[in-house]
This record gives sequence, structure tokens and C-alpha cells, in this order.
Amino acid sequence: MLKKKDSDNNKKREKEIERLVKKLTLDEKIAMIHGASLFRSGAVERLGIPAIETSDGPMGVRAEFMDDRWILAGNQDDMVSYLPSNSALASTWNTELARDMGHVLGAEARGRGKDVILAPGINIKRDPLCGRNFEYMTEDPRLAAALVVPFVKGVQENDVAACVKHFAANVQETDRSMVDEEIDERTLYELYLPAFKAAVQEGKAYSIMGAYNKINGFHCCENKRLLDGILREEWGFDGVVISDWGGVHRTKEAAECSMDLEMSVYPDFDEYKLANPLKELIQKGEISVEAVDAKVRNLLRLMYRLKMLGPKKESRKAGAYNVPAHRERILRAAQESMILLKNEKHTLPLDARKIKKLTVIGANAAKLHSDGGGSAEIKALYEICPLAGLKMYLGGSTEVKYVEGYYVPEELKEAENWQATSLDETEGLETGQAVRTDEAGDQERNRKGEEERLAKIEREKAEIHQKNEQLFAQAIEAAKDADAVIFVGGMNHVVECEGYDRPDMKLPYEQDVLIEELLKVRKDVILTFVGGSPVEMPWRDQAQAILWSYYAGMETGNAFAKIIFGEVNPSGKLAETFPVKYEDCVTAKNGQFGVWGKIAMEEGLYCGYRYYDRQRIAPAFCFGHGLSYTNFEYSSLTLKAEKGKNVKLTFSVKNTGKCAGAETAQVYIAPIAAQADRPDKELKAFAKVELGAGRTKKVSLTLKQEDFAYFDEHLHKFIADEGDYEILVGASCEDIRLRGIATLS
Ligand code: BGC
Repeated sequence: MLKKKDSDNNKKREKEIERLVKKLTLDEKIAMIHGASLFRSGAVERLGIPAIETSDGPMGVRAEFMDDRWILAGNQDDMVSYLPSNSALASTWNTELARDMGHVLGAEARGRGKDVILAPGINIKRDPLCGRNFEYMTEDPRLAAALVVPFVKGVQENDVAACVKHFAANVQETDRSMVDEEIDERTLYELYLPAFKAAVQEGKAYSIMGAYNKINGFHCCENKRLLDGILREEWGFDGVVISDWGGVHRTKEAAECSMDLEMSVYPDFDEYKLANPLKELIQKGEISVEAVDAKVRNLLRLMYRLKMLGPKKESRKAGAYNVPAHRERILRAAQESMILLKNEKHTLPLDARKIKKLTVIGANAAKLHSDGGGSAEIKALYEICPLAGLKMYLGGSTEVKYVEGYYVPEELKEAENWQATSLDETEGLETGQAVRTDEAGDQERNRKGEEERLAKIEREKAEIHQKNEQLFAQAIEAAKDADAVIFVGGMNHVVECEGYDRPDMKLPYEQDVLIEELLKVRKDVILTFVGGSPVEMPWRDQAQAILWSYYAGMETGNAFAKIIFGEVNPSGKLAETFPVKYEDCVTAKNGQFGVWGKIAMEEGLYCGYRYYDRQRIAPAFCFGHGLSYTNFEYSSLTLKAEKGKNVKLTFSVKNTGKCAGAETAQVYIAPIAAQADRPDKELKAFAKVELGAGRTKKVSLTLKQEDFAYFDEHLHKFIADEGDYEILVGASCEDIRLRGIATLS
């Protein structure tokens, strides 16, 4: 319920909006609802209506581009703080940190004069090969919802709008602007929509980005059912829907649904679907002006909310970028994001005092990642790579020997940004100016581009193989002669990037071969990785210590060193399953991923741990898994049903080891004798508890009736069946420590 004062203010605001709508001419209205530059909407100076300035997200505020060319403006003042990717953030399982990171991103966006930050990306990770998984959070809708809400609030407390993307089910990059996804209602409502719903209803997101893909035959950016039916009518969204860049294909459809602002990669702004083509249809009487007014209202409402207009204009926050406090928060998030996957024989942490000679092997030790990945690229103020972090931590009295280990072909960086050709493949393009062609032509050229990319990967394989011979030999030698050896491998943004999917789930550049060789020389090699999505680890049984880091931002190296040397106790947990091999994934089995044209999401709810559970397929590392340098004991589960609806649960977690640490306790619900088909278990709550050595804390959580519910397609609503449910409390989805039964009546 709104307080009286808020409700009065809203009424005043809506009146103001109506007043402005009446004053606007058709041309002015149309100017407002499409891009006037690559990242800016049209302004109406006559009435003091400003342009809306947008920028990407999510790992920081992107550098400035020229207005009509995908060429960087070349400024020296647009470097920013580089935040952990959303996949890293999700591995913290820390809602406070999500708020912090949202706040930092919002403050930096505002500091750079932006109104909308195109973040966060919250699409459900359906397949480990999706090229943008690093930008997304998790395979689980509940975890995504729990993190996106504070993130959005954090952004928006800076008078900047979050633009939650990509709505909805943007699950693959292959054929991304044309692929049609066949999804059943239940799967949509239970898996792909909940985090968006939470962002809108609880996070109060001011804007949302329509995805490139189609759902059940209709492009998301002109999808009446999705944008009007679900987003506006069912969820009550009154913010702005922005198209993904080039996501609008048809004028009438986009005009007549809740698509408020058309943005694109093309510089022919007057030819946008919601520009001249729209005006013509209005003049012919085929579209009513009312359709445009609805969009204008939403945009004006956004401006009021952001204090770009209205009485509070003077008090709009100014934001700040690159302030030291941001870096401290980013460091903390990075520290909590790294996941200790395996640690036998107390291999980690290393005792810095005992190490006189350290060998570091692997290209990712010295690699910077911030300026890649697609639209998530940023110009970081700085980025500390793992090698720098280790050296900065140890100082000059330890001999640190670095060898590259494996060969990574050099990337050619061109002045023109990849985005110029992200929707088409115009030949001879040197100007960064995207050129429009027809859809069939685009798709054909994209397909050709993809073939060329794969052929290039094949060609490079021979080169890599040849160069690796010497690098491997050098690495093995260096490994023999050291007190400790740290391998830093993984991926980079050539391997995983917006615009294409990975060809397989293997570590690139023959890293597996090198790792096997290294493990033969010494078992205590510490295997660490920087990457954005799961890889196969065929050597994992032989390894003693494995540490995984997602792209963790500007402080990656510092966080990494603190964990390696035990100054920080790792507390990250996987927000996605690491399967043993790609063939274990449901999408590999049903062949419905990375296909052109159409994919049927036949697996329904059964992707991620829901699938591995059901099929009894043991993953390499399960959802929710992550170790600590200490141990935690769970005890004393109590369950109390309140009025037969909510279930209150309490349990205790004790740190039984010798150092302080943090544990994320996870609560899963497993219906007993369910009437409908239900996953074996589903995450419904979690709590991250910090505990000093020997300390115990009592955790209290409440499960609401809706946590027990599933979506009934016939009734078109969530229903919770009466009966017994097993409540599982665990350290991961497989490591269940406590069990109880709750009865819903
Ligand atoms: C991406 C969006 C991004 C937009 C603007 C598109 O290619 O899909 O996530 O916000 O470009 O750069």
C-alpha cells in the first residue's frame, strides 16, 4: 500500500505527465520513443524534456562511443570501476553484496551522467555453452530473484534506472536475433520469469530490456503476450520497456504493444521502426496516436522518477565514479565470489612465510579481461590480474617465476567495435557504421560469419598445438623447481563472448593436456581458473586443489592472493552445476541448444540441478557447492507451520574449525507424493552466515505458501497442494545435512 503522501505525489506526477503529453506534437512524441544516437533517445528541448542517456552494464559503465558510429570516442575520462560479473556476484550468495554492487554501478553510471544502466543480466543459464553466461547469474530462478531485487534497489537509489535484461529467456547467442523458442507456459512461469517478476514487483525496476529472441513465434520486443499480458497486466509494471539494440522488427506490432523505446545498432535513426515508418502508419490511420502516447507516458514517468523532470530536479544525485570506496566494496565481492571446488591434504591455503620460490603457470595469470565480452566490455581504471595480485601480496623477497604455459593466439583489436556488425555482416566495413539489410540476408550472413569463426578456431588449433610443445616443456621444468606451483588457466572473452556460443565445454588451448602433465610431475599443483561458465575437468580426481573464479572485477588479483595465502577464507558457492562432460547436459541430449531457427525447450523445468537430480547423473561439482578452509556442522532443525500456510524453520550452524569463515546454508523443498510432476527438489531459501572459529549461530527462515507452489497451466496460476513436503537443509544441493517434514493444509 502506498502512503498517502506518495499516492498524492503520484497523482500530481501523472497529471503533469498528461499536461506534457497534450503539449507534444506527433513528431516530438515520435522523437522520444526511438534512439537519436546509439545510446540516447530523442529530446524535446522546446518543453525541457531531456534525452535519456543509456550505457552498458553490467560490469561497469561502458566507455563512450561516437553518436552514430561503433567507434570509441577515444576519451580519457571514461575509465571506470570494473565490477565482478553477475556470475561472480551470484557465487557470493550474498544479498547485501548484491545491493552494494548495484549501488556502485548506479553511482558510477550517474557519475558518468547516465540515466539508464543496461544491467543486470539475469537470464537463466540453460546450457553451459551460452556465450553470455558470464553476464548472467545462475541456473536457478530463486537465487536470481533473491539477488536481482537488492541489486536493482542499489542501482536506483542513485537516481539512475536499472534496465533488467533480457526479457525473456534469452538463452543462446546462436541466431540470437531470429531464434524462436518454443516454451510451455509452466516452464516460462516457473523458470524463466520469476527473477524478472521479482525485479519488477519487489525491486521496482524502472526499466526492462526486451530480448532479441522470439518466444513461441513472436519477437520479445513486439510480443503482446509478454509485454502487455504478463509484464503490464499481471505484474503491474509501469516503467519503460527498452528494446535490445535492433530487437524491433515490425512497426505495427511494436507500436501496438508495450515497447516504449526502440534502440538499435544502426545509425539511420529516422528509419527506426518507431520513427518515420510509424509516422506514416499513423498518418494513414492504421495506428492510433494513443499507442504512442502510452509510450511517451512511460518515458516521462521514468524521467520524473529519476528527477530528470519535475520539482525534485535540483535534488537529483550526482553520483561518483572511481571513488576508493567502490574499490573496497568490489574487493569484498570478489573475495566472496571465488569458489574452492576441491582442497585435499590442506593444499590450500599456502603459508606465504614458507614459500621462497613460487612458480605461476598459465596465460590467465597475466591476462586482463575487462575490455572484452561484447557489450559488457569496459575501460577499467585498473585491473589486477592474478599474477600481479600474488606478487603484490608476497613482495620482493619471494622469487616468483612466471611462465605462460599454453599458447593463446593474439586477438586483433579493431577501431570499429564488433557491435557494428553484430546484427549483420557487412563486408568492407571500416567506418563502424552498421548497415541495414533484410532479415533473411542478415541471418544468412550471420550464419556465414559463424562458419568462418569456427573455421578460424580449427585453423588456430594447429598453431596452438605447435607452439604448446615448447611452452609445455618450459612449464614442466618450472614446476619441478619451486616450493609451490599455481596454475592459472580458464577462459577469456575470445572464447566466451556476446554474439556466439562456445563450441564445446573443454578448456581451450590444450590446457587439459598441460594440466595432466603437471599433475604427473607434482600432485600439489594448485589449479585455479578464471572463466565465466563451466568447463570439463577430466583430471579432477587427480587434483588436490581447485579454485574457480568468475570474472571478478578490478580487484581479482588481490582477492585471489588473499584466498591463496589464507588471509581470506573462501565462501563462494556455485550458482550453476559443473557437469562432468557436456554430453551430460539435457540440452546436449535433446539437441535443442545452439540451433538456428527454432529450439524446442523440451526439457521444460528440467535443466541445471533439476535435471541431474531427476536423472541421477552425478555432476563434477553440483549446484551450491563450495568449500571453506574451516568446517561447518548443521544441527537442530525445527519446523513450525503457521496457520498451515507459512513454515518457519530454524537450525544451527557451527564453525567447527580453527578459523573464521562464512557458510551459505541452502533450503530445498522436495514434495512428497506430489499431485503434479515436480522437480525432486528446488531451492527456496538460503542464508549466508559468518562465524568465528568455534561459534554457532541459529538461522531462522520462513517459507511462504508460494514457495510450495507450482504453476498450473489450466488455472493459469500458482497453486500449492496440501500435504507433506520434505524440507532439506544443506551445504549444497547434494550435501544435505538436515531433513524435516512440513505439512501444508
Ligand atoms: C546487447 C545488450 C546491450 C545492447 C547495447 C546488445 O547487443 O544484447 O545487452 O545492452 O547491445 O549495447
